[in-house]
Amino acid sequence: MSKIKLASRLSKVRVSPTVAISNRAKELKAAGRDIIPLSAGEPDFDTPSNVQRAAQAAINRGETHYTMAEGIIDLRQAICNKFKRDNLLEYQPEEIIVGAGGKQVIFNAMMATLEPDDEVIIQAPYWVSYPDIVLLFDANPVIVDSTEDNGFLMTASQLEAAITPRTRWVFINSPSNPTGAVYSENDFKALGEVLRSYPDVWVMSDDIYESIVFEGARFTSFAQAVPELKDRTLTVNGLSKSYAMTGWRVGYGAGDKDLIKAMTKIQGQSTLHPCSITQWAALEALEGPQEILSEMLATFDRRRVSTMASLNAINGLHCFAPSGAFYLFVSILDHLGRSSSSGSALDSDVDWVMALMEEQGVSVVPGSAFGTDGYFRLSFAASDDDLARACERIARFGKSLQ
Ligand SMILES: Cc1ncc(COP(=O)(O)O)c(C=O)c1O
Repeated sequence: MSKIKLASRLSKVRVSPTVAISNRAKELKAAGRDIIPLSAGEPDFDTPSNVQRAAQAAINRGETHYTMAEGIIDLRQAICNKFKRDNLLEYQPEEIIVGAGGKQVIFNAMMATLEPDDEVIIQAPYWVSYPDIVLLFDANPVIVDSTEDNGFLMTASQLEAAITPRTRWVFINSPSNPTGAVYSENDFKALGEVLRSYPDVWVMSDDIYESIVFEGARFTSFAQAVPELKDRTLTVNGLSKSYAMTGWRVGYGAGDKDLIKAMTKIQGQSTLHPCSITQWAALEALEGPQEILSEMLATFDRRRVSTMASLNAINGLHCFAPSGAFYLFVSILDHLGRSSSSGSALDSDVDWVMALMEEQGVSVVPGSAFGTDGYFRLSFAASDDDLARACERIARFGKSLQ
């Protein structure tokens, strides 16, 4: 039998440790074990009912045909209105592309711009997909390690040191997945000051967690903080996290119109556009009542405070206090080198996460999946009851270590 010959670029893309972990969680669940899943990156809320109704109305109106590749004009205009309303940023509809999630928008942008051996600066800990998307285009992710001492923020000098003649993009993600760190306006200005001297380096500002920022912090979009670099910033956002619409697949990018045109060309030869019904639903999400955002934020905040208190009370664990998003990034450095009650050696964060799942039935993601060892990421986008039970189990696990 002949074997499919795969493109060599695929071999560069890692099989994420999260796959092994989620597969094991599924196996344990299928075997009847009670697994508390705190590894997913999605809100546990339903999509708001006004958005659901808008989708149903779109079906009834027959909005079930192909649309423009870059998205329906009404939605692109609504996205411009959103940028003006929330970020004081002026965009025209031809500077907007709507894709099947923020992920597709980033993918399109990289396909449109990267040549083999180009470099993209990515701050670790990073969202798992960033390096892999870059690798798929034979370009090289250049990882800049941020530390807890620096609030998990990339400094201006770190950025400057990472730039080479091959650098095409810097990825910025605020609030961050997985740490919840939020850049201030001044932080961005300092990065902008560096980038001013490198006119060929563009910025991809991933604002997808914009609506989830807790008291004490303030969201700023990079292009808003550094207006002189707006022309070479692609701002990516979406409705997955803010309006609990992960499954609908809708995100958008705003930036230079030639870049958007190139991305549209690519999208036109792949998925063409996000589902027509989704686009009408997204329009209602952006233009309809916005109270849902503050309601979700209040719930996330309550869970953040209580889960952080429970985890910080466990010997050897320490949470980085997130200013945004719905994750806790928890240090387990003090537990490494020990062994679990069943005798498993805990030499890495993957060992720790696997042993926690096997012995206590809680599923979280190791920091190494995000490029930073010695941590785990727990999503607090889960019910209060699940979070409380998970914290009890993690405490039991911590106590049982030898
Ligand atoms: C930092 C970050 N950016 C982008 C995305 C993409 O989201 P979507 O493709 O659902 O819009 C995610 C999803 O997990 C994310 O965490």
